Amino acid sequence: MYVCLCNGVTDKAIREAVDGGARSWREVRESTGCATQCGKCACVGKALTHEAVVTT
Ligand code: FES
Repeated sequence: MYVCLCNGVTDKAIREAVDGGARSWREVRESTGCATQCGKCACVGKALTHEAVVTT
């Protein structure tokens, strides 16, 4: 599913960023572009990042 409509970032892209070494919401934001425009997706993006980090 799309998490960030502004930049077309999916939940899969967030998991892949974590698999690729991102370990914080800030790093996921930098590598995917999620929440770098309107910011409405920040809450969901952050939650998905934490979930992915915990389960990795
Ligand atoms: Fe992600 Fe706008 S929906 S920055």
